[in-house]
This record gives sequence, structure tokens and C-alpha cells, in this order.
Amino acid sequence: MGKDRHAAELVARGIGKTYGDFKALDNVDLTIGRGEFLTLLGPSGSGKTTFLMILSGFTGASSGTLTRDGEDITRLPAEKRGFGMVFQGYALFPHMTVEKNIAFPLQVQGRSPSEIKARVNQMIDTVGLRGHEKKHPSGLSGGQQQRVALARALAFEPSVLLLDEPFSALDKNLRGSMQDEMRRLHKETGTTFVFVTHDQEEALALSTRIAIFNQGQLQQVASPRDIYDKPANRFVAEFLGEINLLSIENASQESDGFLARYGDQTLRLGREAGAKSATIAIRPEYVTLGCERANAGNCLPVTIRSMTYLGKITRIEATTAKGERVVAELPTHTVPAAFAEGATAYAGFAVERGYFL
Ligand SMILES: Nc1ncnc2c1ncn2[C@@H]1O[C@H](COP(=O)(O)OP(=O)(O)O)[C@@H](O)[C@H]1O
Ligand SMILES: [Mg+2]
Repeated sequence: MGKDRHAAELVARGIGKTYGDFKALDNVDLTIGRGEFLTLLGPSGSGKTTFLMILSGFTGASSGTLTRDGEDITRLPAEKRGFGMVFQGYALFPHMTVEKNIAFPLQVQGRSPSEIKARVNQMIDTVGLRGHEKKHPSGLSGGQQQRVALARALAFEPSVLLLDEPFSALDKNLRGSMQDEMRRLHKETGTTFVFVTHDQEEALALSTRIAIFNQGQLQQVASPRDIYDKPANRFVAEFLGEINLLSIENASQESDGFLARYGDQTLRLGREAGAKSATIAIRPEYVTLGCERANAGNCLPVTIRSMTYLGKITRIEATTAKGERVVAELPTHTVPAAFAEGATAYAGFAVERGYFL
């Protein structure tokens, strides 16, 4: 096992899936690069599992094509794709020991007994199960069982590993350590990982890129940082966590940058709006709040509505003159003593942080 092993590129073009007249997937175009850790993220029912099952070959697409390293595999059966899989409820064989579970796919492939022995041994070490190899799944914790499932899926060195919410049944601490494990396995194997989750933090922590799904449609594909800071639309902006949305008017390009009106205020923005009227999105951690009107930069008068002490930070909710909500997260030690419900404050944000949707 090593970086020299083959990692595949998958290209989905116009993938659709219908059940009766219900569209579970609508015209999905997605290229998954060699050795990527690509995460499919979206709410329940958005089509993530359906898309993964189409990649696996267990579900056929209603339309579109799928290629692996340029070869059309749209109609190739699952067992001929040679992808590793760790699915929800894709259980271990309860009557087999850990090492027999891991050996099983290698036996199906007809590998030699000596090769199987060596591979199983190696995988036991890779996933940290030394000492547990003679146990049955019932004698293992949930996290250990998931490690066996990972070892079984990686044992035959698949060119693609497909994972559908593999840690959803684990408690929060265990999920954290399994995430570290996933990062390490991805690095060590160099394999292409396609990972499904509905957990935003998990997606941000693990992925090279994230593909956001909603109602069967692919909304955006980008790096975790770009998905978070530069959402393509309102759905992506709101799905990734709290965000302030401000409606601006009369957006225009001036000689010294991009300007827009917000009520009777002028805002300076980092990018041109697609239209005269538009929405800008700013994450709460990029909003500053002070008692005095700033002399330079963007500054909107707001009325403080609520303050919530959260330890290190204080979350402050305010409304603008237009009645739109502005949430800021300030380090608690920087919150001015004069701040109180009903008080006026001035909200600011850097030019490049006002991102047009
Ligand atoms: N076999 C099926 N028959 C009918 N509808 C289905 C079937 N499989 C999935 N769906 C529907 O397709 C949509 C997407 O499902 P799924 O891909 O499982 O979503 P996710 O994994 O994002 O939660 C859901 O509305 C689901 O009810
Ligand atoms: Mg699912």
C-alpha cells in the first residue's frame, strides 16, 4: 500500500435519477479528481445516498454518464467497478472474526492465502486493531466495528472508497477520533475518497472539496474555505452555518471600487454585484460592533436586540434601520460596557467580507 497505488478519477455528466415522476437527482455534473477527499453534503433527502449508490453501481442512473479514468462505466455492474464501500448499515459478518471479515473481499477476488494473510495483517495495524483480530464484531465497540469496516473496504486497495455517513451512529468524541483516522487513511492510501455526511463541521474538517446538494440538485462544489466564505447562493450560505444577509440597492462600479446603497448608508464592497439590487452575505465572526461610528470603512447603525454570553465569545443580535438582522460574535473581553438591549451600536465589516450572493 502506498501513494503509488492507483486512485481513480470519476466524472459524472448530467446524472439524473427519477422514481416515478419524482426527481431524486437532477442533471448532476461533478468531476472527482484522483486522490481527492470529496464530501457530498446536504440535508436529509437531498440525494446524497442516491448519488453515491450510482457511483457504486448498485443503483442505475435514469440519465447521464459516468466515467472512471475516461472509461464509460455507466452500465458496469458494482462488483466489476472494484470500489471499496462503507455504508450505513453495511454491517460486518457477525459470525466471522475481525481478521476473517477483512479477508473476505480478498478471498472473493481469489487472492492467494499467503497474500491474504499479509494484507489482513497490514490492515489490522493500519486501523489500529492489533490484539482484536480473533474477536467477533459483537465483542467490539462501535468505533472498533467501524475500523473493521474501513479495513475490509481498504484491504483490496480500491481505486475509489465510497463512504455513506459511516460515523453517524457514534458519539461525538468517537466521531472526532474516527475523523482523524479518516484523514490519516486518506493520506496513507492516496485513494480517491467520496464521503457522504449531513454534518457541516465534519465536511469542513475532512474534505479537499465539498459538493453541496439540495433537492437533488448540485448547488456548489468548492474547497471548504470557499464554500464557507464564498457561498454560491442563499441555500449554501445558510446551510454552512449562521450568516448575515443584507439587501443592498443601487450597486454600481465606481472608479475606486464597488459601491452600493443600504438605506441612507453607502457600502463599499469587494466584488461587483450581478444586479443593481442584490444580497450580501457576511459571517458573524467578520462583523465588528462598536459604540462609535467608524471614520473609515463600512459602518451601519444598528439597535442591539439581545446579548448572549457564551464564555470566550458573546453573541450579539441587532437589527438595522431596515429591520434586517445582524449577528456578531465578539470576544467577550472586547464587548463595550455600554452595550445593552435597545442601545445603538455601529456594525462594520471589511470590504472583502461583503460577499455577493
Ligand atoms: N427507492 C426509492 N424509491 C423512491 N424514492 C426514493 C428511493 N430512494 C430514494 N428516494 C427518495 O429520493 C430522495 C433522495 O434520497 P437520498 O438519496 O437517500 O437522500 P440523502 O441521502 O441525501 O438523505 C428522497 O426524497 C428519497 O425519499
Ligand atoms: Mg443518505
